[in-house]
Formats: sequence, structure tokens, C-alpha cells
Amino acid sequence: MALLPILRYPDARLKKIASPVTQFDSALQRLARDMAETMYAAPGIGLAATQVDVHKRLIVIDTSEDKSNLQVFINPQIIERDGEQVCEEGCLSVPGIYDKVTRAEHVKVRAQNVNGEFFERDAGGLLAVCIQHEIDHLDGKVFVEYLSPLKQTRIKSKLAKQARITA
Ligand code: NI
Repeated sequence: MALLPILRYPDARLKKIASPVTQFDSALQRLARDMAETMYAAPGIGLAATQVDVHKRLIVIDTSEDKSNLQVFINPQIIERDGEQVCEEGCLSVPGIYDKVTRAEHVKVRAQNVNGEFFERDAGGLLAVCIQHEIDHLDGKVFVEYLSPLKQTRIKSKLAKQARITA
């Protein structure tokens, strides 16, 4: 197992669109395990492969209180969505920044597990938010892009300042 470095916004690699996973092999299983370890260590509730500079359609999520419910979604697709909710979001690629984003309240996701088997999951509340947020990463989108241009500029300068302090 290994902790993977997480890309920080506005790194251009966060804009890459991830390719579908076609090989369900031991390397994929290791990537999923390393991503889970990296997410738990951060700590965070979700991580997309894009954030660790692997441009494949793989996300890991655990929204449980006691970190006992790891969910791995490979090639996830939202096949149904309804309702609306506003949630204050954060992102391991945008440390220290939280803001409100409007998303679907419920989603139905079709995805594959690490063995390539298809499954469907209905999600609401925080899990639904997390799934939408992580799938956005696979499409090259970071949550701050839903905010106003002024806020995005402020966030970029704040993060640049942080990077100088911690460098
Ligand atoms: Ni994120």
C-alpha cells in the first residue's frame, strides 16, 4: 500500500478527461487500495483517480462516520437523477476551501466493481453529492468551477499564497 500525492487546484492535470477502465487486473486493485488509503489518510470522504494523476474512470468513497464502508465505483455513470440539494463542499485538491454547490438530491449510478462486475446503486444526501463531485473530477471538473468567477480568482490566489508558505 502507498499514499499517493494529490494534485492541487489549479493544476492543469485536474482538467484531463479520464478514460474508461478496460483491464480489471491486479494493478487496478492496487490502485483502488492505494486511493482508499490516500483518502482515509487525508482525511477525506471521496477521491477520484484524476486527483492522483491517474486518468482512468475510478473513484473511491466512504461517507460513513466510522470509515467502515468503502465504496469503489469503476466507470460510473449516473443513469437517473432527481431533486435538488445545496451542500457545502470541500475537496482534497482545494484544501481549506468550502462553498455551497447545488446538485441532484438523488442519483442512480451504474458502475463496475474491481472485478468488472456491473452493479447499480441508489444514493441520496451526502453520498449523492459525493458521487456527483467525484464523477465531475473524472470529467476534468473541480467544484470551484460552479462558483462565481470572482470567487474562483480569490480561491486561486489564496491557494497560491498557501503553496508559497508551505513550500
Ligand atoms: Ni474533489
